[in-house]
Amino acid sequence: MGEPLENPSPAEGGGRFGGGIHVISLAPGADLSGFRTAARRLIAAEIPPKNIVWQTEAPSLFGAESGSVDGPPLRLPRAVTELIPMVVPHRDSERYGLLYALLWRVLHGERALMDVLSDPLVHRLHRMRKAIGRDLHKMHAFLRFRRVPGEGAERFVAWFEPDHHILGAAAPFFVDRFRGLTWSILTPEGSAHWDGTLHFGPPGRREDVPEGDGFEAGWRDYYESTFNPARLNLDAMRAEMPRKYWRNMPETAAIPALVRAASARAQAMIEKEPTMPVKRDPVRAVAKMAQDEPDSLEALNAIIARSEPLVPGATQAVLGEGPVGARIAFVGEQPGDQEDRQGKPFVGPAGQLLSRALEEAGIDRGEAYLTNAVKHFKFTLRGKRRIHEKPTAGEVSHYRWWLEKELDFVAPKLVVALGATAVLSLTGKQIPITRARGPAEFGRPFAGFITVHPSYLLRLPDEAAKAAAYQAFVDDLRRANALAA
Ligand code: URA
Repeated sequence: MGEPLENPSPAEGGGRFGGGIHVISLAPGADLSGFRTAARRLIAAEIPPKNIVWQTEAPSLFGAESGSVDGPPLRLPRAVTELIPMVVPHRDSERYGLLYALLWRVLHGERALMDVLSDPLVHRLHRMRKAIGRDLHKMHAFLRFRRVPGEGAERFVAWFEPDHHILGAAAPFFVDRFRGLTWSILTPEGSAHWDGTLHFGPPGRREDVPEGDGFEAGWRDYYESTFNPARLNLDAMRAEMPRKYWRNMPETAAIPALVRAASARAQAMIEKEPTMPVKRDPVRAVAKMAQDEPDSLEALNAIIARSEPLVPGATQAVLGEGPVGARIAFVGEQPGDQEDRQGKPFVGPAGQLLSRALEEAGIDRGEAYLTNAVKHFKFTLRGKRRIHEKPTAGEVSHYRWWLEKELDFVAPKLVVALGATAVLSLTGKQIPITRARGPAEFGRPFAGFITVHPSYLLRLPDEAAKAAAYQAFVDDLRRANALAA
């Protein structure tokens, strides 16, 4: 083992404690270059993770020297080099230790470790990366500049409170968007300033940001004009735009009134003749989706929610429901009439039957993830009735990219395909359920299981057949649950 590499610890009077422990001090926040330098030197000196304590609390006492000597660059898989800058801003004090443990293992025989999603270290780092992606998305979406009053050159300032140390990572986005303006972003941990060059400074205070300006009404009008009452889902809205950001966003003043009026406006939309999207071009739509690469389930859902339906009909997109990281996920065909009205999956008759069967099989619906292969209700109008229409194979494949991404974000252990459309979406093949029923392989990082769709049970004419089919369905769910355990 090499000499201790780091600066002395005041507590111990030296960098190396009994047992060869090394204390590495990094700057507070996201010290990517400090971590890189230290990691290179530690790896070069063959210091194992268990012999290192990563310090981020008292940088001014023993800061800069630790980065003064560099080790040779590390040869790392791309998945690792991309992950590091996305985890370093995380608030978790163990972030550097976890990343170093990853480097150590990758460089000591586990080169493909990042592919092992079930590994607890990889799983945790993935979750941390997702949390940073969400935080960046929120900052990009919810930060609002205000004009600083006064006679001199025009200047804008914004206040934002990110959950993690992301100011450095988020700033380039605002440089791109507002290159021609002079602006500052203040946060409780530091500030970013742009006047043709980007520089960072000390923390700011909310009071330093003016209360309102001429932009406010513009933001409100824009929000009111894009608000779709039929898509009102307060839980999703709060998850997407947590209240703590509302104070800084002028348009949120319009929310209470819009929410109060939403149900009447949605009813009026339903009662209107449906309009068919005239010139749908699914190929272009899908290409556009692929460009808009979302970095979290919320970002993906925002894309789905604002996209044109790729099937005729539909008041709104019905998004998946359930926790990220759910052990078991269920994929149905497409929302039905009730789902389309309420904006939630599996709330109509088939959904209620599914809930009952889940309960009998010992699966808590609230802990599972429920979604559909197709996110919009495809129907034809017969009088006033909206009659379900099966999506074509082409339509299913247009929606497939969304489902794949969604399941990547949710990362369940097992996915249950409910019926032939779900199987088509998950495998790309038309396979009869009777032949494929049971454990299945979808060629993805989760285990698979195929069973019937609950609406099939509802359609069976004979009560005895219905009861037997229902029992077989519950048995399948029980089996799937055991496989997901
Ligand atoms: N059928 C489905 O496949 N999904 C729903 O959400 C409702 C009914």
